[in-house]
Amino acid sequence: MQAKPFELFPDAASSIAGSVDGLYAYMVLVSAFFSLLIAVLIIYFAVKYRRKDDHVPLPVDEHSIGGMILEIVWSVIPLGLSLVMFAWGASIFFTESKPPADAMEVFVTGKQWMWKIQHNEGAREINELHIPINRDIKLTMTSEDVIHDFYVPAFRTKADVLPGKYTTEWFRPTKVGEYHIFCAEYCGTKHSGMIGTVYVMTEPDYNKWLAAGSGEGSMAEQGQALFNQLGCGNCHASAFNKNLGRCPNLNGLFGTTVDLKDGTKTRMDETYIRESVLYPQSKIVAGYDDIMPTFKGLVTEDGLLKLVEYVKSMGTKNGAQMSAPPLATETSATDAKTGTPAKAGAAKTSAAPAVNVNRPGNQ
Ligand code: CUA
Repeated sequence: MQAKPFELFPDAASSIAGSVDGLYAYMVLVSAFFSLLIAVLIIYFAVKYRRKDDHVPLPVDEHSIGGMILEIVWSVIPLGLSLVMFAWGASIFFTESKPPADAMEVFVTGKQWMWKIQHNEGAREINELHIPINRDIKLTMTSEDVIHDFYVPAFRTKADVLPGKYTTEWFRPTKVGEYHIFCAEYCGTKHSGMIGTVYVMTEPDYNKWLAAGSGEGSMAEQGQALFNQLGCGNCHASAFNKNLGRCPNLNGLFGTTVDLKDGTKTRMDETYIRESVLYPQSKIVAGYDDIMPTFKGLVTEDGLLKLVEYVKSMGTKNGAQMSAPPLATETSATDAKTGTPAKAGAAKTSAAPAVNVNRPGNQ
């Protein structure tokens, strides 16, 4: 969040923000007008009607019609102006307290002192909330301990977050950007640190974000989710399914050297995994066909790292020896940075002993 110059109001970034600001401006203007009017009249009358030494004021006529009209006028007009505040405020209150039926659901758990967010689709985040622009978002909120309050000033809405019960809050973000989340209910020592950021994104950006599965779990766990989501397990055996025989079994493969179809070998490292996801046809493992589709454009760099972490974790689970010294890693890392696929020969310098990849025949 970049530093901003002094500003009187936070961003107005939700569908309701305009009417809340309108009501607020109306209340300030009405108050300012009457404060000024009364102050000016006090001074004016004090001067105009100040007591002179030889002047005795006339008795007040208690039955004056003019006086009664004046009193009615100065009672009814402020009453009307106040009732406008009441009606306007009530209308905003009812709008804010009734989420639209088709709103997108997000789950919020308050906890001393953090916000845990869980998206319906599975993505989890902490102290961050990613949402698409121009969609009604409904938060279903609860607390793990004490009363908190989920407050987004830019959306002009907040609601208490209570232990043992669900409360809701909804808004429709109208401006892409990053906005503060505050806890607006004193909840203990670090209440003031119970803050976060709302990221309002365009729909495509949001979908990408959601697909990347930014989550609470380890990268490997997220990688596993991505692995399943992309359907990798339909061909590749993982720690949780049998090798179907169409593609290499990934269990225990990381860090080994694999024989390729063209007779060369390559080290199964981060770069090779990345390359195989994006350019699956470039280095086919011996004994397999060129059947894997590319996932270029479907997997972000973050997602790729998560997949790599997941494949690594499969190696660990099966007790695979990370026998190869990290010789090839430097070359590979450079290639990864420049975005060019590692050359087939790059990993040949690896001193790792060649390991037979699990082939259908070996099962
Ligand atoms: Cu949570 Cu204050």
